[in-house]
Amino acid sequence: MDSLDSGQKFSPRQEQDWETFLPATDCKRLEKEPGRRKKLGIVVTVVVLAALVALLTGLLVWHFHLRSDLKVKRVYIGAMGINNLHFQPAFEDPSSSQFANLALLVSQQLQQIYSKNSVLAKYFKGSMVQAFSEDSSDSVVAYYQSEFNVPIPQQDSVDQAIESLEPTTGSLKGGKGRALMRPDSGLSINSVMSRAIDPRLTRSFLDRKSANVHVREAGVVQSPGFPDAPYPPNTYLQWSLRADAGHRVRLDFHTLILEDDCQQDFIKIYDSLAPIEQRTLTEQCGYPHDSLSFLSSGNVMLLSLVTSAKKNFPGFRANYSQVPVSGCGGTFTTDRGSFLLTVLSLQLPSTNHVCLEHRGAKGKVFNEQRLCGSKLKNTVITAHSNVMTVTFHSDSSYVSQGFTAEYEAFVPTDPCPGRFQCSNNLCISNNLHCDGWDDCGDGSDEANCKCEASQMQCKNGRCKPKFWRCDGFDDCGDNTDEENCGKCKQGEFSCRNGRCIPDKLKCNGKDDCSDGSDESKCERSVVLQQCSDFTYRCRNGHCISKQNPECDGENDCEDGSDEDNCDCGMRPYRSSRIVGGQASWEGEWPWQVSLHIKGTGHVCGASVLSRRWLLTAAHCVRDSPTVRYSQADQWEAFLGLHMQGQTNEWTVRRNIKRIVPHRDYNPSTYDNDIALMELEAEVSLNQYIWPICLPSPTSDFPAGQEAWITGWGATREGGFAATVLQKAEVRIINGTVCKSLLEEEMTAGMLCAGVLKGGVDACQGDSGGPLSVTSITGRVFLAGVVSWGDGCGRRNKPGVYTRVTKYRSWIKEESGE
Ligand code: ARG
Repeated sequence: MDSLDSGQKFSPRQEQDWETFLPATDCKRLEKEPGRRKKLGIVVTVVVLAALVALLTGLLVWHFHLRSDLKVKRVYIGAMGINNLHFQPAFEDPSSSQFANLALLVSQQLQQIYSKNSVLAKYFKGSMVQAFSEDSSDSVVAYYQSEFNVPIPQQDSVDQAIESLEPTTGSLKGGKGRALMRPDSGLSINSVMSRAIDPRLTRSFLDRKSANVHVREAGVVQSPGFPDAPYPPNTYLQWSLRADAGHRVRLDFHTLILEDDCQQDFIKIYDSLAPIEQRTLTEQCGYPHDSLSFLSSGNVMLLSLVTSAKKNFPGFRANYSQVPVSGCGGTFTTDRGSFLLTVLSLQLPSTNHVCLEHRGAKGKVFNEQRLCGSKLKNTVITAHSNVMTVTFHSDSSYVSQGFTAEYEAFVPTDPCPGRFQCSNNLCISNNLHCDGWDDCGDGSDEANCKCEASQMQCKNGRCKPKFWRCDGFDDCGDNTDEENCGKCKQGEFSCRNGRCIPDKLKCNGKDDCSDGSDESKCERSVVLQQCSDFTYRCRNGHCISKQNPECDGENDCEDGSDEDNCDCGMRPYRSSRIVGGQASWEGEWPWQVSLHIKGTGHVCGASVLSRRWLLTAAHCVRDSPTVRYSQADQWEAFLGLHMQGQTNEWTVRRNIKRIVPHRDYNPSTYDNDIALMELEAEVSLNQYIWPICLPSPTSDFPAGQEAWITGWGATREGGFAATVLQKAEVRIINGTVCKSLLEEEMTAGMLCAGVLKGGVDACQGDSGGPLSVTSITGRVFLAGVVSWGDGCGRRNKPGVYTRVTKYRSWIKEESGE
């Protein structure tokens, strides 16, 4: 279990991303001491000084906030297909005059293209051609980098304008053989595609080096120092791999061990000679378990390695070679085998159709099936005869890794000899039958099973692990694992203390369980004679029997205190990723805060409790050897933020005046992982900045209840932080189930939530952010604070949150909220 690991603070990118980030919109207020009327001269001096400071402040605000002409550098990487030129070997050599001449023509050509677009024309600065390669029809592909100086508000429109230059997927605008543009440069262009460069490649402190490798002779590429020393820090290395014409580049990794966090160290491989996002074949970091082999679609490939300042690992070693481009397709007549098709989407229209034929079906199409996307694992297609044709089609847009398929001839009367046959015709090993997991992909291996001792039998015949019973999830598919979850007989209510009482005694105003639990979840509110741990306490000290009575629009307490301070948790206005999440709307989560370490960027999330107070996780504000996370002056909070790196008129930045971590926070168990932050100056509330409601200590968030998690954290384990605020729906998970799943101590201050199937979870960088639960009245309550987990989004590994109800009185004591 790597709870410590996954509980670590998210270390953000250290750099240039934030070049574009506008600093403070509110300048620190000057605190004035009341002047004494001793001498008029002093007063005058003070007034003049104050006026000067005010003027300066005004100028600064104007400069940073109101001036819309502040510009940032935007770099786009692209490729241009040139029809009317044959590739010459000299184009491979940047010092040749042929290279220089053609580069000039390409640059002029780009300038001309940009000049026809009013947005691009305004901000274009210059282009640089980086390399040329040949495509399969012996014409030329130029790789270039174009730079624009863009006013901050215009960044999106420049991105859009650049993307609109691209030929749409499928057929090019000009069509096969026709030029897209035929300008004065004399170049006939059949495609132009550019994309914003991966910002991690433009960090200014990186030491850049590149190497050209011809792969005709097989050889080895490896990170510097491998295997005796770790790779160097803060480096961006590029290997341009080139094969002979008519060949592909093949790269097989022998070892790859990098830092786990792809934000820091990673390799990226492109089906291109320039780092064009759409041509990315893979991005890898950490210690991948699968063996890694890559094949280019043309005769070039780019391998890049980026490293950070810290944690330098052994690195990698890979073998390169070239393989001839074989004619497409083939005929297979053996009984069993497999075929493999990697990479393939080609850059140019003339090679737009790639096919892999597996025995012609004599023009007769039967049972045609089209498959696409990435969820084709375990897809089985059977032919009703002894022939089948497989064709592969790829267009000019993104590349991916392709597919492998196995084929097998079978005797229709015994399709899976010695193995289990799924309903979808897949044959799986017999020991996967009835093991509680859906191995067929259609659940058929788990139907009608005889269950083992550790399993429970669902009514529909499936077997599921016993600890899935009564966890609030329908694991059986027919909900039988969630039926009769109390230990009591029918017609009885099961008290929290385990006692059983007749159902009719529930909510009668008397404490029949003797722990108050029969009077705590009532629809009607009755003032109780006795309070218990499960009942809501009004301000006048009386307790009432209604469950979660606060802010539900009804006066339940005699003094109405359950409806006080109920402006929270509303989405005042709705104008309109987290692992397994999706982008949220602007203003959808107005209590979400992004906590930055000044000059570094996003580190943790937090929630708005009031104009002055934020709530986050204690582990976010613990010092590390290099950063003083516990010091208020290191932090800045962004409220009303939607997209990292983009502030707008409703985004508010605040310094932090004070941090109050829970005094009993335990860094080894993550118990009491909660902290308050006081803002240096109050914020005004608006549709984008709004407090979330705090639940009363007796509020109950039962297992199975839906909740939402939000944040800018990594969108997969070890992955990238999100730019746009992500949201994902999870469910509250029973504490006992959670404890047995995580094999870790779960304290009373923790709450589990997730999706046991996996794939939906909070992750690094979401810490401190809210677990939001919507009440029946639509008001949103803060049920939890993102705290820790075992990896992110793993199956049967729910996320752990700080249980806010447990800290309600602590929050009140420390902040008054
Ligand atoms: N502690 C992490 C952070 O600092 C959040 C971990 C949450 N993990 C999870 N699998 N739910 O960002």
